[in-house]
Amino acid sequence: MSQLNNIALKILSNGKGILAADESTGTMTKRLDAVNVESTAENRLLFRETLFSSNAMKKFIGGVILYDETIKQNTNSKKTVPELISSAGAVPGIKVDTGAKVLAGSPDEKITEGLDGLRERLKEYYKLGARFTKWRGVYIISDKYPSKLSIDSNAHALARYSSIVQESGMVPIVEPEVLMEGKHTAENCFKKTSEVIKKCFEELINNNVDLTGVILKPNMIIPGNLSKEKISAEEIAKLTLKCLKDSVPKEVPGIAFLSGGQTEIEATENLNLINKFNDTNFIMSFSYGRALQQSAIKFWSKNIKNIEGTQKIFNHRANMCSLATQGKWSKELEEN
Ligand code: 13P
Repeated sequence: MSQLNNIALKILSNGKGILAADESTGTMTKRLDAVNVESTAENRLLFRETLFSSNAMKKFIGGVILYDETIKQNTNSKKTVPELISSAGAVPGIKVDTGAKVLAGSPDEKITEGLDGLRERLKEYYKLGARFTKWRGVYIISDKYPSKLSIDSNAHALARYSSIVQESGMVPIVEPEVLMEGKHTAENCFKKTSEVIKKCFEELINNNVDLTGVILKPNMIIPGNLSKEKISAEEIAKLTLKCLKDSVPKEVPGIAFLSGGQTEIEATENLNLINKFNDTNFIMSFSYGRALQQSAIKFWSKNIKNIEGTQKIFNHRANMCSLATQGKWSKELEEN
């Protein structure tokens, strides 16, 4: 087994998943503004350190995606943030794209940037302790979007990124996110997501990426947030499984979903059913940002010194997600 495959399995095996704590300073400021906490470097670290030093880290979290600011910060215990994460047995990771910019030639859409100077930045992140990375491509959805241009150019960037990351000894998370915003049906989400994922793997293969050393981070197959269509969690799980079975090469060891605007309970319930019905060899886990942190940040904002109380909320959420990776979650467990 390759070293990269070992890292991917360490992150996702044994009911563990990924905490996506890689909000850029701009996004984190929005999250903190929403709960009336001032967005200073100190407060951003305080919230994150509260999560990273919780018991959940040892049991339920196999990897944490960090942002450039955080990976360079020192914690109160004088450990660096990556040292704190590693000491809990989890793997530190880092977001390496520099954001989604207007796609020239199709200005309603976005292309993710960050390839320039990537090899040099990766050297620094590796030295700081990172062993996996994230790059997110975003796709809008409607009758005419995503365009072929957006599908091709984002897939190409994801593949170039993946090959440079593997060359640097780290596991790339390949995140092609078909956004939930819009009036589209689940069927359209299925069709477009399948097309996007297939193109990504075509490009990864063209770029000689070792598929046993990548983690795919896709969206689930869900109707748009403005769609009138309502489908059950069972249907979401079945469509999502069908899409991934048809589009993801079997060498890929694991798939870790993004939550993408689902509530904490929706993201947990859907993942649980995906695992109940999972008849593939892929590990199906989570790489949630909002669906792991929403209740915790709300609680924390009322008293930012209440570390224990905040950790209790986060432990519960991570525990529920971990149960969902094994198909063992239920609504009753949420209430107890
Ligand atoms: P959400 O789970 O909040 O969608 O965030 C995951 C993520 O990392 C998006 O890039």
